Order: sequence, then structure tokens, then C-alpha cells
Amino acid sequence: MNEGGAEAVVRPGGLIPAQPGPGEGKSVRSAVSARSEEEPTVDIVDAVDRDVNAGGAGGESGTGARADGAAAAVIAGAGPVARPGERATVRLRDDDSEEPPRYAPEWLQLRESADAAARAQDLLDPLRIRLANLPGRPGGVVVHDLGCGTGSMGRWLAPRLDGAQHWVLHDRDPYLLHFAAVASPRSAADGSRVTVETRRGDVARLTEDALTGASLVTASALLDVLTVEEVEALADACVGAGCPALLTLSVAGRVDITPEDPLDAEIAEAFNAHQRRNGLLGPDAVNATCEVFAERGATVRLHPSPWRLGPGEAALTEQWLRGWVGAAVEQRPELRERAERYLTERLAACAAGALRVTVHHSDLLALPRPRGGTA
Ligand SMILES: C[S@@+](CC[C@H](N)C(=O)[O-])C[C@H]1O[C@@H](n2cnc3c(N)ncnc32)[C@H](O)[C@@H]1O
Repeated sequence: MNEGGAEAVVRPGGLIPAQPGPGEGKSVRSAVSARSEEEPTVDIVDAVDRDVNAGGAGGESGTGARADGAAAAVIAGAGPVARPGERATVRLRDDDSEEPPRYAPEWLQLRESADAAARAQDLLDPLRIRLANLPGRPGGVVVHDLGCGTGSMGRWLAPRLDGAQHWVLHDRDPYLLHFAAVASPRSAADGSRVTVETRRGDVARLTEDALTGASLVTASALLDVLTVEEVEALADACVGAGCPALLTLSVAGRVDITPEDPLDAEIAEAFNAHQRRNGLLGPDAVNATCEVFAERGATVRLHPSPWRLGPGEAALTEQWLRGWVGAAVEQRPELRERAERYLTERLAACAAGALRVTVHHSDLLALPRPRGGTA
């Protein structure tokens, strides 16, 4: 297992560093507002602003995540259109092509309520039954959230499950892990305690050993940015540990926009091709993951989880449109002129409250055969 050790353990009344990195406290406009007893929230823009002023996120990480000047690019919006896709990302260092793209926390925050509304509730009962049948554990269930980002999966799921929970939040980005830890859920549906720890590392290298004692693996908006080999490794780890997996909000490659435009299909096709670049699964993720788990003897249930975006979600729709069209043009530069016209008209319709967009996603629940003593 090649994951980093726990970075921060959060317990009620415990302490998380306000922000990793040097210069802490300098130019703080507003700290992260989180860990309220009622409803954890995190003001990401303020926290980003503070972080940039304070010398950069991940200052302790050794990744050199902030480069002078580049970090400012994180602040504005969901991420530059030059690094688009439905998943808005930013690169903090132009000089290091090996560094994976990083996700703008503003983008993850912007999509969180649409994600919450889209998630497939119907998969919860089979999951609850599975968790209820686990041998009793004094500390409750242990949930590993892979590619947790700012932690939206935990904020949605933890309060929907009964009983004590310990969440292990995995991401390769220490900056996002910080947000996830600070704004983590505190209590389960029945008021039981929820604790979290963070683990920095590459989830594509997760092993069965890393899931020893795990009751559940979750992921949200992750599968489509993995390769089939990475999904196979993930399935090997889950099936080997007898651990169920709730893998949500994978893009399905289909978008419905009202009113229609003749260019919709061409943009969608180019976007899907962009998502498949470098061997990533993109819109093939759900089918591939179903197959991979089924081949390993797991029962797999699939449920649609579309975003349904109307006038009330104009900010998200706008950012999504910019990323969607931007990725299509990056994939097929010959579309640029027509796509610019298309985007201008779509943004105007969005601003006028005259646009409805359905972005299709799927959630899947994989239930491997339980293993004695591990789950
Ligand atoms: C689209 S974001 C989703 C974040 C979060 N799950 C959500 O739904 O808001 C994908 C997340 O996966 C993380 N990620 C992607 N590939 C990863 C990998 N191989 N190892 C660890 N984290 C990864 C990214 O850093 C990012 O936080």
C-alpha cells in the first residue's frame, strides 16, 4: 500500500490545524467556517484567499503545490477553460507536466447541491441492509471515501446512515483534504458520533490490505477519471476485502439541453472523446466498473443520478457549459468558431432563465461476497 499516513484526525473537540503551511494567520480575511455543531460548512473562497495569502496550500506536503503567481489562478471560478471538462481543474505549476491536474475547490462547492439532489437514494436501502448485517464493531462502521475532494460524499451519506462511523478520506491533493477534514460531518442519522481522518495518496494504488477493517468504500465523481486498470485494482481491493462499494456520479456521456441546438450532439461527442483521452474511462466508466466487479463475483446495482439544472442552478450551469464546450474545442479545434457562437447563445439563455440541462450520471453499488473478519 503506497498511501501516505493519516494527516489529521478529527474528533469532536479535537483540533485540526487551521491551515497547513507557513505564514499561517497572515492576511486572514475569514477563516474556514466549519465544524459548527449543526451543519458543517466551509467558505471555500475565503479559505482559498487566506491560503494564497498565507503561502499556499500543501505547504507541509512537500509537493510545492503553490508556485508564485500560479496559485492566484485557483481563486477565480471553477477552473480555467483551458483545463476544462465537466471536472474543472487547475494546474498550479506550469513547469511540471507530471503533476496531475488539481480540482478547484470552488467547482466542487458549486456542484455539491446538484450532486446531493442527484444521488441515487434507492441504493441506500440495500447498502443499509448490508451494513446492518456486519459483525458488530465497537467503533461502528469504517468508510473509505476515495478521491474525496472537499468531502461532499461524507456530508451527504454520513447523516443518512445510522450508527457510529469513522470516515477515512483519501485524496492525492492535501489542499482538498484540508477542506474535507474541516467540513466533515459530525453525526449520523441517529445522532451517533462520526469521526474522520485523512490519507493522502493515489487511490489507484489502493490494496486489499489498506481496506482491512473497512465496512464500505465510497467514491463520487471519480470513476470517469480512472483507467480500466485502476478500476480493476480498486475492484480487487474491495472484493479481496469483502467490502461493498458505493461509486457515485460517474458521467454517462449523455446530455439533454432544452431548447435543442443542432450543435449539441457534436459538442457532446467531442467532449466524450476528450474525457477518454490518455486511456481514461470517461463515459465508459460505469459499464466498465460493473463488468469488472461482476467478473469478480460481486452483485452490482446501477441507478441513474442525473443533474437536472434549471434557472435555480444558473451558476453551476454556466460553469458546466464553459467547461463542456471548452473541452470539446480542445479536443476538436476545428469546432472553435461554431462553438463560440454556440456558447454565447447558451450562456445568454442560461442568464435569462431559459435553459434546462440534464447531465446524465450513474451511481453504482457493488456488493462483493463478505469475507470473515474483514468487513
Ligand atoms: C471530480 S473530483 C470529486 C471530488 C469529490 N468526490 C466530489 O464528489 O466532490 C475528483 C477527486 O478525485 C481526486 N483524485 C483523482 N484521481 C485520484 C487518484 N488517482 N488518487 C487520489 N485522488 C484522486 C482528485 O484530487 C479530486 O479531489
